[in-house]
Amino acid sequence: MRLTSPGPAMPLAGKRILLVISGGIAAYKSLDLIRRLRERGAEVRPVMTAGAQEFVTPLAVGALSSGHVYTDLFSREDEQDVGHIRLARDCDLVLVAPATADLMAKMANGLAGDLASAVLIATDRPVLLAPAMNPKMWANPATRRNVETLRADGHAFIGPNAGEMAEGGEAGLGRMAEPLEIVAAVERLIDGGAKPLAGRRAVVTSGPTHEPIDPVRYIANRSSGRQGHAIAAALTRLGADVTLVSGPVTLPDPPGVNVVRVERAEEMLQAVLSALPADIAVMVAAVADWRAAAPNAEKIKKQPGEGPPPLMLTENPDILKTVGHHADRPKIVVGFAAETQDVEKNGRVKLKKKGADLIVANDVSPETGIMGGTRNSVKLITEAGITAWPDLSKDEVAGRLAGWIAERLT
Ligand code: CTP
Repeated sequence: MRLTSPGPAMPLAGKRILLVISGGIAAYKSLDLIRRLRERGAEVRPVMTAGAQEFVTPLAVGALSSGHVYTDLFSREDEQDVGHIRLARDCDLVLVAPATADLMAKMANGLAGDLASAVLIATDRPVLLAPAMNPKMWANPATRRNVETLRADGHAFIGPNAGEMAEGGEAGLGRMAEPLEIVAAVERLIDGGAKPLAGRRAVVTSGPTHEPIDPVRYIANRSSGRQGHAIAAALTRLGADVTLVSGPVTLPDPPGVNVVRVERAEEMLQAVLSALPADIAVMVAAVADWRAAAPNAEKIKKQPGEGPPPLMLTENPDILKTVGHHADRPKIVVGFAAETQDVEKNGRVKLKKKGADLIVANDVSPETGIMGGTRNSVKLITEAGITAWPDLSKDEVAGRLAGWIAERLT
């Protein structure tokens, strides 16, 4: 009689992992990682940077993965065999372990000068990074920025962990996650996708409001809605269930977003309150501060000899302030501050007054071209201080902001 055992569980059976190994001492752990992934049924295709080959040999990596190791962007045989574009797409997940500060900087900036970075920019598959570096390098502001950008681009991270560095003497955050932790993250991602805001609800306001004076005239402003719409799209890409309350704009609805169209500030407030409870509120709309106290039911006609009619204004509700002090206040409340002078000082005042966790302040003086334009140059104002972001497209600001929110919520 032969005894049979059920054998090890194969949660990754049939899954193809493209493993990018970059050059750090933690590359030695990638050998064990390959074994662990294959034990669970995954097929592992390794790509090694030049740096990685200084730490482990392609021979060892090839032996463990029992296949070809890809190292060269300009290898005629490799390009004829699969080519870097197919290599990038012919897998269920791209795993970067170890992910060095250098490779992350390349990814965050879209560089593609070697096979590893070219594959990473060409892939349309989920990407999981397992960073490994010296704690000072991990804490460096440039690395922080790159990590935030990569998160905003939808990439997932595992680790780094705290502990002694391999080079000895230094402790802190920077050790690569252990192979089994990485394997668990791979399994989660292959099941669930890189959606750090999955299950979270968000409400975003965008665009101007139109406040009627009579049936044909209204008070408005120059807001295009580009920034608010981009933020709704970026939160959706990270998995959030987003309600976008939009004033009158000419932009298409962002895909996958529940769009509620309104005209006036009072309608915008009602739509936002109906979207609560939510985890996240990002109030980007340029809400008109005032509306006509008594809009005329009929078109106001010129009266010969009487001169222009007086226009009496009354204050609109402050939507951000209402949400920031609401009984159902979302965990993260973000406001914008459109200023033409004293951007930081006015931003700090708004943070307090409106009960927000973050004010994204920008200078909207006409010479900046921000209002109605496609780029934005913002300062992030929180209780903890002020961070200035470089001049970015409104899509980039949106991606980074969604990453900032995801990091705080998770
Ligand atoms: N906001 C709002 N409702 C209003 C006015 C503003 O929700 N009635 C929100 C905006 O969406 C933005 C923030 O408050 O997130 C700041 O808008 P801003 O126009 O810069 O500030 P105001 O509060 O209007 O202050 P002021 O015009 O005096 O600078």
